[in-house]
Amino acid sequence: IVMTVKVTVTGAAGQIGYALLFRIASGQLLGADTPVKLSLLEIPPAVKAAEGTAMELDDCAFPLLEGIEISDDPAKAFDGANVALLVGARPRTKGMERGDLLEANGGIFGPQGRAINDHAADDIRVLVVGNPANTNALIAQSAAPDVPAERFTAMTRLDHNRALSQLAAKLRVPVTEVRKMTIWGNHSATQYPDLFHAEVGGKIAAEQVEEEWLRDTFIPTVAKRGAAIIEARGASSAASAANAAIDHVHDWVNGTPEGDWTSAAIPSDGSYGVPEGVISSFPVVSRNGRWEIVQGLEIDAFSRQRIDASVNELVEERDAVKDLGLI
Ligand code: NAI
Repeated sequence: IVMTVKVTVTGAAGQIGYALLFRIASGQLLGADTPVKLSLLEIPPAVKAAEGTAMELDDCAFPLLEGIEISDDPAKAFDGANVALLVGARPRTKGMERGDLLEANGGIFGPQGRAINDHAADDIRVLVVGNPANTNALIAQSAAPDVPAERFTAMTRLDHNRALSQLAAKLRVPVTEVRKMTIWGNHSATQYPDLFHAEVGGKIAAEQVEEEWLRDTFIPTVAKRGAAIIEARGASSAASAANAAIDHVHDWVNGTPEGDWTSAAIPSDGSYGVPEGVISSFPVVSRNGRWEIVQGLEIDAFSRQRIDASVNELVEERDAVKDLGLI
């Protein structure tokens, strides 16, 4: 028997929500034979817009979509949820200090974590998309002590996909030729896209590109792509972010292909010198519905320095939310 999966999406009326919901309802999140129920969580002023999106979802007559609920109450929205996509967040506005940003997001992700703790299904899987994603995931996780910590993850899959596509374009190969890409660290400008373990045509990618390109073009292009999209589009990445969220959950549930891995921010077990508990991006495979960190990669001085810089930023964010009493 195939069970219906309840998927809760927060920030459902936002631009990522608009790109995401139709793909979930069409079966791309879990697979083409898994029926889904959608639960849309919004803040009161955006509930009406969410209702409009729900009308459009109805109008698609998706065969797998069994129902849509809309709420501004986290307890209701997460009730019985199997998958939670936490997209709605408080963006940084002009002049906002980091402490204010973290505090505002603590006010969102703390209560949502508690609601997940108290009301979600036992197999709940959480992906945080809303920024600062890694630290928001940590806040939600710490508010949900009854949920296994490993169920709280943050999205670096968009960064991963950007890195695949930049490298494939450089080497003029299809993206399907690229394997074992890794994003390390934080979903921020300090992230480290690693070509020393990535392979193209079975050979190490870093050996197929110029060192200058890797250092001065590839890394900053991937890390600053979000800002470049805002500059060009006048709005932040939405469809590509939704696509990455679909990829992340799809692989978490269905597994990653043999001979390859992907990137996801998951709670560290201390691997690669990343302090335990910090939600950092790693090279990961998914087996039997669980993420596992790929072990045994050799990290040279160039990579070490960059991984450490991004992880240090995560540790600083963790310490800041600790000081604010948010975790
Ligand atoms: P948006 O502003 O279009 O939509 C956000 C929605 O969240 C709004 O409809 C708002 O009403 C809702 N919201 C705010 N607080 C909420 C709460 N407490 N509960 C439920 N809903 C709430 O923003 P967009 O473009 O959809 O982006 C959403 C987030 O995703 C942002 O934080 C953005 O920075 C982040 N993002 C993350 C990426 C990643 O790779 N991890 C990539 C792109 C965006």
